[in-house]
Amino acid sequence: MQFKRRPSKRSRRASLSAPIGCGIDVVELSRLRQAMRRGGQAFMRKVFTKAEEAYADARPRTRLLHLAGRFAAKEAVIKAVAQIQPTLVLAMREVEVRNDHLGRPRIVLHRRKAARMAVHISLSHVNSVAVASAIAIRSR
Ligand SMILES: CC(C)(COP(=O)(O)OP(=O)(O)OC[C@H]1O[C@@H](n2cnc3c(N)ncnc32)[C@H](O)[C@@H]1OP(=O)(O)O)[C@@H](O)C(=O)NCCC(=O)NCCS
Repeated sequence: MQFKRRPSKRSRRASLSAPIGCGIDVVELSRLRQAMRRGGQAFMRKVFTKAEEAYADARPRTRLLHLAGRFAAKEAVIKAVAQIQPTLVLAMREVEVRNDHLGRPRIVLHRRKAARMAVHISLSHVNSVAVASAIAIRSR
C-alpha cells in the first residue's frame, strides 16, 4: 500500500497565500434609478459598456434589474481584484459583464494590468435589489 506524502511546509504556505480574492455587492434599484436620473448619459457612459446597455435595452420590462445586476457585479469584481492586488483599482467600465449562449454571466476585464486575472461571477435580482458575488484568481 502506498501512502500519500504529506504536503511540504513550503507548499502548504504557498497554498495559504494563493492569489484568490472574493467580493460581494448589493444594489438597491431605487438608488440606481436615482443615480441614473441625476447623472443621465454621462453616468451611463461612465458605468456601463454599450453591450451591457444593449443587453438591458433588449429586455425593456426588466431593464433596471439587468443594469442593477451589472452594477453589483462590477463592484463585486473590483473588490475581489483589489483583495489580491490592492493597487489595481478597476474603473466600472473596465469590468464588463457578458452573457454566454446559456445566459451565464462572464467577466471581461478591459485593463492590460489585469491580464493575469480570471474572474468568476454570479448575480441575482428581485424586485428591489440586485446582488453579485465574485471570485478573482491570479495566475502566477
Ligand atoms: C438560470 C437561473 C438559475 C436564473 O435564476 P432566476 O432566479 O430566474 O434569476 P436570478 O435573478 O436569480 O438570476 C438572473 C441572472 O442569472 C444569471 N444566469 C442566467 N442564466 C444562467 C445560468 N444558466 N447559469 C448561471 N447563471 C445564469 C444571469 O446573469 C441573470 O442575470 P442577467 O440576465 O441580468 O445577466 C434559472 O432560470 C434556472 O434555474 N434555470 C434553469 C436552467 C436553465 O434554464 N438553463 C439555461 C437554459 S439551457
